[in-house]
Amino acid sequence: MDIQKVCVLGAGLMGSGIAQVCAQAGMQVTMRDIEQRFIDGGMAMIEKNLGRGVKKGALNKGEMEAILGRIKPTLDLKEAAADADCVVEVVIEVMSVKKQVYTELEQIVRPDCLFFTNTSGLSITEMAAITKRPSRFIGTHFFNPVPVMRLLEIIRGFETSDETLEIAKAWGQKIGKECIVVKEAPAFVVNRILCSMINEAFFVLGDGLASPADIDKGMLLGCNHPIGPLALADLIGNDTLLHVMEGLHRELGDKYRPAPILVQLVRAGRFGRKTGRGVYDYTE
Ligand SMILES: NC(=O)c1ccc[n+]([C@@H]2O[C@H](COP(=O)([O-])OP(=O)(O)OC[C@H]3O[C@@H](n4cnc5c(N)ncnc54)[C@H](O)[C@@H]3O)[C@@H](O)[C@H]2O)c1
Repeated sequence: MDIQKVCVLGAGLMGSGIAQVCAQAGMQVTMRDIEQRFIDGGMAMIEKNLGRGVKKGALNKGEMEAILGRIKPTLDLKEAAADADCVVEVVIEVMSVKKQVYTELEQIVRPDCLFFTNTSGLSITEMAAITKRPSRFIGTHFFNPVPVMRLLEIIRGFETSDETLEIAKAWGQKIGKECIVVKEAPAFVVNRILCSMINEAFFVLGDGLASPADIDKGMLLGCNHPIGPLALADLIGNDTLLHVMEGLHRELGDKYRPAPILVQLVRAGRFGRKTGRGVYDYTE
C-alpha cells in the first residue's frame, strides 16, 4: 500500500508536526483533536513553521497555501478516520486513553487501514492486542520538533507483519525521515540511551564531581554534543525524564535507578524550562 491519506489523531506538539510533514510530502491529511482550541493551536503551530520556511526562502507562499490546503482539521473522528490508509495516533501518553481511541477507531476505519502509534515508550503489543489488526499495527516514534528532526524510530510489536514494516519504512522515507527499525523494549533504543546518559549526569552532579555548568561544558566540548545533558534535561522536562527512568527501572532493573537529584527536582516542582526552574533558573 502506498499511503496517500493519513489521519492524525492529536493536534498537539507532535501531532501537528506529523500532520505538517505528511502534507508537505503531498499526502491528504485529516487532523483530529477533542477540543477546537487544541485544533486551533495545532494549525497555528503549522502555519508558524511554514511561515518561517517562507521567510527563509525554503518555500513560497503558494506552496505554503497548498500544504495547508491538504490538512483538514476536524473534531469528528468518523470524518477524520473513515477513509484513511493509516491512522497516526499521537494522543497523550496514557495507555487507557490510547486503548479507548483504538476501540473507537475499530468501528470506523477501513479493514485495510494501518495503525501507527507515536508512543514514547508504551507497549505496542499491548495496544495492538485490543484491536482486530495486530499485524497492521506498528510504532512510529518521531522526535521533537518533527519537521526538523530527521529520525523516525520504527518499532515492531509482537504481531507486526513484515508488510506493515515495509509500508511504514516507505512512508517514513517519503516524509523525509531516516528510519531505524528496533524491537519493542522499554523506551525503545534512542530514549533508553539518551535518558540513561542524562540520568548518569545527575548521579555525577549528586556525587559532587563538578558543577552543572562544568558537567554540561564537558559533554559539549569533550563529546561534541550540541547541548549539555543537564540543560537537555531542563528542555525535555525533568518530570518526563523521571517518568522514562522509572519505566526503565521497573522493567529492566537497578542499572536504571533514577538519580536522587532528579527525583528531588521533580518533587520540588522544578521541571525545567516549562516551569521556569530546573537544574538552571530561567526566570530572569
Ligand atoms: N513531546 C515529545 O517530545 C514527544 C516525542 C516523541 C513522542 N511523543 C509522544 O507523542 C504523543 C503526544 O505527545 P505530545 O507531546 O504531542 O502531547 P500534547 O499534549 O502536545 O498533545 C496531545 C494531544 O492529544 C489530544 N488528545 C487527547 N485525547 C485525544 C483523543 N481521544 N483524540 C484525539 N486527540 C486527543 C490532546 O487534546 C492533545 O492536544 C505521546 O504519546 C508522547 O509520548 C512526544
